[in-house]
Amino acid sequence: MDPATRHLVRDARPEETAAVAALLAEAYEAFRPRFPDYAWQAYVGEIADVQSRLADSQLLVAECAGRVAGTVALYPEATRSSLEHWPPGWASIRALAVRAEARGSGVGSALGAECVRRARELGATAIGLHTASFMTAATRIYLRLGFERRPADDIEAGEMFTGTALPAEFSWQAQAYWLDLTKE
Ligand SMILES: CC(C)(COP(=O)(O)OP(=O)(O)OC[C@H]1O[C@@H](n2cnc3c(N)ncnc32)[C@H](O)[C@@H]1OP(=O)(O)O)[C@@H](O)C(=O)NCCC(=O)NCCS
Repeated sequence: MDPATRHLVRDARPEETAAVAALLAEAYEAFRPRFPDYAWQAYVGEIADVQSRLADSQLLVAECAGRVAGTVALYPEATRSSLEHWPPGWASIRALAVRAEARGSGVGSALGAECVRRARELGATAIGLHTASFMTAATRIYLRLGFERRPADDIEAGEMFTGTALPAEFSWQAQAYWLDLTKE
């Protein structure tokens, strides 16, 4: 338990999967204007599809006052993360979110830090992730954890989530970041 913010980061329990999916859909709702309708459904549907990631990733939650306040998925082997293209031996982070009323207390940072700790412990050589320039809170967390930009692995958002680039007026890059775990 983090004494400053009183939250506990732990593995999600099977019965929490539906609550995590709902939390993700709600937290990502702010990004709806970034997509035409057809692509929004594909995007939010994939983000909230917690079940599809369970076999290949660790589903983490942050619990505050007995309630799930945040979540993230850690792929110990990033090649299992189907929408991305990371080298073997890397881990990857996906679908980070914190309930709106719990934001600004370090919950997101704690979830990110736990992913880094676990990836190191599992012997991953690096961690990859994708975010976006307008996901400013998340980007601050990743930079503070030591992640660096890796533009060669950027993926156009429509390509990533629908297989076809978004119309020009919507188009944005899923920006790649990585953390080298071979350095101290
Ligand atoms: C990104 C997110 C998980 C951060 O969660 P959080 O618990 O607020 O994170 P932290 O408390 O560790 O704060 C991280 C940053 O959030 C921002 N922040 C702080 N207070 C905030 C508040 N009340 N509301 C929103 N953002 C806030 C700050 O930029 C902060 O960085 P700083 O400490 O360097 O100033 C959360 O904003 C979220 O769910 N966003 C929507 C989904 C999303 O963007 N996911 C990431 C996709 S890559």
